[in-house]
Amino acid sequence: MLAECLEGLITDPAGIYVDGTLGNAGHAAAILDRLGEGGTLVGFDRDADAIERVKEKLVAGAGKRVELVHDNYANMAAQLDRLGIGKVNGILLDLGVSSFQLDLAERGFSFMHDGPIDMRMDRTCGQTAAELVNTASEQELADIIFRYGEDRSARRVARAIVEARAKVRIETTAQLAGIVERAKGGRKGKKIHPATQTFQALRMAVNDELASIERVLETMLGRVVAGGRIVVLTFHSLEDRLVKQFFSRHVPREESLQQGGVRLIYEEPPVEWVWKKPLTADSGEQGVNPRSRSAKLRVVEVGV
Ligand SMILES: C[S@@+](CC[C@H](N)C(=O)[O-])C[C@H]1O[C@@H](n2cnc3c(N)ncnc32)[C@H](O)[C@@H]1O
Repeated sequence: MLAECLEGLITDPAGIYVDGTLGNAGHAAAILDRLGEGGTLVGFDRDADAIERVKEKLVAGAGKRVELVHDNYANMAAQLDRLGIGKVNGILLDLGVSSFQLDLAERGFSFMHDGPIDMRMDRTCGQTAAELVNTASEQELADIIFRYGEDRSARRVARAIVEARAKVRIETTAQLAGIVERAKGGRKGKKIHPATQTFQALRMAVNDELASIERVLETMLGRVVAGGRIVVLTFHSLEDRLVKQFFSRHVPREESLQQGGVRLIYEEPPVEWVWKKPLTADSGEQGVNPRSRSAKLRVVEVGV
């Protein structure tokens, strides 16, 4: 949905745009391509490796300013202040992990590659998933797996993790995937690995992902010019619900008054959905990129 993201985002080629989730810089490079002289791109990633890797690719074209920031997008306001940037024309978030992070065994995001269970997007701080899995109480683990993995067998999985770690510390993705698979009674012929929800839940907990999204939603509304756009691509129902409910509170709706007439109610600043329904990937894109199956693209325009 790259084309739709760009169409939703860019309203002025000479404007200032923020990519909050640089990743492999697919979106960032495409934004830069579309920007004309005088345009600015500010890119964030909390993963220092991502910033290092994409630096060269994003070296500014003639007349374009590029700023790369290693930080959580939740700190966007302070970072824009530091760069001397007030309001911007558009902000893009493409949530979740990058294919680069998933494919590197040493990052520990995926049971497809055996490695230490780290799962931190920012390896300079915070506890690893291994620390969480080996120290959290059974109840805490069950809550995490139920809430972020939306997994009905969360209690059973948490119990299995606690029993397994009593014998030997859980260090690797293969070890954890095996424990979860056995707890859930094997693959049962299903395409999706039984550990998928547990891995997703631990990743979301380790990186405190929903809290960062909640923080950046408020910031973005205060930082986009009237007529500017906010584009959010989600891959998880909890993320999408958060984004949808947040912006819906800012979309003016009519309320009938007792004395007749109507008034508009909304939280400041008002926004409008650019597309009434979220966009989803077509079957062609889903075939090429399985991750896009759960993608939802929501775009709002900030009102005057
Ligand atoms: C799905 S990838 C983005 C892919 C990117 N749009 C591209 O075209 O290659 C998500 C990226 O966002 C980063 N990320 C996730 N949460 C973040 C946060 N709270 N702050 C900054 N970066 C974050 C991840 O480290 C990852 O590199």
